[in-house]
Amino acid sequence: MTQHYRVHGRRIAAQVAGHGEPILLVHGFPLSHRMWHGQISHLGQSFRLIAPDLRGFGLSDPHVGDTLLMDELADDLAGLLDAMGISQPVTYCGLSMGGYVAWSFVRRHRERLARLILCDTLAAGDSPEKVEGRLTSAQRAEREGTMPIVEAMMPLMLAERTLNHCPDLTESLREIMVKTRPETVAAALRGMAARPDSRELLPTVNCPSLLICGEEDAISPPEAMEIMAEAMPDARLICIPEAGHMAPMERPVIVNGAIRVFMHETARA
Ligand code: MLT
Repeated sequence: MTQHYRVHGRRIAAQVAGHGEPILLVHGFPLSHRMWHGQISHLGQSFRLIAPDLRGFGLSDPHVGDTLLMDELADDLAGLLDAMGISQPVTYCGLSMGGYVAWSFVRRHRERLARLILCDTLAAGDSPEKVEGRLTSAQRAEREGTMPIVEAMMPLMLAERTLNHCPDLTESLREIMVKTRPETVAAALRGMAARPDSRELLPTVNCPSLLICGEEDAISPPEAMEIMAEAMPDARLICIPEAGHMAPMERPVIVNGAIRVFMHETARA
């Protein structure tokens, strides 16, 4: 069920389902909570799933301003948990940009973290070329709308098998992306470009952590996630065959299985 919560003066939409330990599902860019459909429909039997639309995305109120910082998004998530009356530490599960927001969450709200699940994401900041590309794309989104950004990203988002054999999934991903407001696309691109390098944080993340990576992820490749996992004190990495950057959408059964096992094995007595 989609519910609305007032967070820092703005309406934040969140799909909330199931009972049990809370798992916060934080979407990537330029997506919405809908990317977690394959998790919400199955993991809700065992966990309380909270899948917000980040500020400016999906059904949440727009962001005001031309840059949307990862810190602002992390503070919104802490505010959302407050608005929901959830004070116990949660399992934070973020994909890609949702992972970039995780680093801000670790910096600013570490006490609220029971476990970390990082899907198809990076700890390093952007190279100067990447920053430049994002700033150019932000201007393009403002001029031409969301569509050209989506068309440029699509071939990088999915594994070959998904692109060639799963037209429904490919279409529903495109549909989620094109619905994102151009001003949100531009502001989030600038926010991602401004995010700091978070690699120094990795050895300090003491909570149990699960890293999930599509074997064919072209944006956050397995080699990069392997280095992250090695730098974290309590992390395990699982690579998902025939999946790209959107592993939870592309291979939900395997991803859900990995999350279940991780939650079970790291349950506190
Ligand atoms: C995402 O999926 O959130 C984006 O691909 C992240 C990025 O552009 O670095």
